[in-house]
Amino acid sequence: MNAQLTPAPSNSDLDSFWMPFTANRQFKANPRLLARAEGMYYWTADGREILDGVAGLWCVNAGHGRREITDAVTKQLSTMDYAPTFQMGHPIAFELANRLAKIAPPGMDRIFFTNSGSESVDTALKIALAYHRARGQGQKIRLIGREKGYHGVGFGGISVGGMVNNRKMYAAAMIPGVDHLPHTLDLEHNAYTRGLPQWGAHLANDLERLIALHDASTIAAVIVEPISGSAGVVLPPAGYLKRLREICDKNDILLIFDEVITGFGRIGKAFASLAFDVTPDLMTTAKGLTNGAMPMGAVFSQRKIYDAFMQGPEGTIELFHGYTYSAHPASCAAALATLDVYSKEGLLTRAATLSPQWENAVHSLRGLPHVIDIRNYGLIGAVELEPRTGKPGARGFEVFLKCFERGVMVRQTGDTIAMSPPLIIEQKQIERIVETLGAVIRETA
Ligand SMILES: Cc1ncc(COP(=O)(O)O)c(C=O)c1O
Repeated sequence: MNAQLTPAPSNSDLDSFWMPFTANRQFKANPRLLARAEGMYYWTADGREILDGVAGLWCVNAGHGRREITDAVTKQLSTMDYAPTFQMGHPIAFELANRLAKIAPPGMDRIFFTNSGSESVDTALKIALAYHRARGQGQKIRLIGREKGYHGVGFGGISVGGMVNNRKMYAAAMIPGVDHLPHTLDLEHNAYTRGLPQWGAHLANDLERLIALHDASTIAAVIVEPISGSAGVVLPPAGYLKRLREICDKNDILLIFDEVITGFGRIGKAFASLAFDVTPDLMTTAKGLTNGAMPMGAVFSQRKIYDAFMQGPEGTIELFHGYTYSAHPASCAAALATLDVYSKEGLLTRAATLSPQWENAVHSLRGLPHVIDIRNYGLIGAVELEPRTGKPGARGFEVFLKCFERGVMVRQTGDTIAMSPPLIIEQKQIERIVETLGAVIRETA
């Protein structure tokens, strides 16, 4: 499979696409064009094979080019291309919600469909505010996020998020009443921990400080990623999420888990809340829901939240929120086929089986030049490199580029290299990812 797949565009053909989260000029001078994908691999436009170490962008959990999913989408599009879900419905939207309810954490069986992680986050934040209001607690308006948090790019998501580059340009438009917990990344205490760090559960107690500052009667919800990916893989210290749950319960504050990357098997159970045995009130998902084949997100809600809206005259719309493409038929078809693949191949739990091998492999990079931490959980891994003086991110970017040149795709955030391969990965491919990364790190000054 080395033949040239598509004519590579000339550099001036690249001008019109304003690329997201990309150094446009640098990319367009030296493009990395992907043209085909199957299983664990991409092929570039000029026919080079690339082992996918990040499941596309943390979304292709069952591997690329799954026929079952493509066929389901094709069939759906030729049967009914589009149908609205405002005051109308179509059967597979309900079928999908019922299927998701079956694998959901306890009680989270009311599901609102979106088109992305960002939309899921903004939806969950709005539901949280509207829920309190529906219960006559309309003064609960504050939202608490966390430093280093990534919750997509909507105004709600960047306001509760904690990544400075995503926030600083839009400072004037941040939603009011937001505060942040401290992040849990601490190299001094936890560097090279295998799995969850043992130090740091007490950082959850900071929520009590924020409650003392603002008063619980003003706080609607706390949103955190059980494991964050975008900030370079930040793990929750053991006991941390449980502690957040306890404090939220005590103070009538909703707990939202943003499971956009941890959902659908990434850490060995369908959701991180099941793996960590902590059930939130709302849970945001996207990515693995359709195996990346169609855009779709879903917000899972505790039934008590849905029920709080189901009051007043029956003819009134209970939640003034939704998207033209909420529960798009082709996305529903993709999601149903994806769930079938996950279930048939045991993929929602495969990360738990592979996790010991994965952990040993990524931690074998300890001791290489400039490596200052290695983190892992389920099928997530991160290698943090020391930043070059005055040039944060430069070393990480060089490592990412060289890995790509050698046929392995990893993800770079600053000087952290993150890995999250499709859950179908085999031992030999784990070895290839880690060997390539190790070789590149060794020769990167
Ligand atoms: C935790 C989390 N929330 C939200 C998002 C945003 O998802 P999307 O890019 O689909 O809007 C991401 C994307 O990486 C994410 O990791």
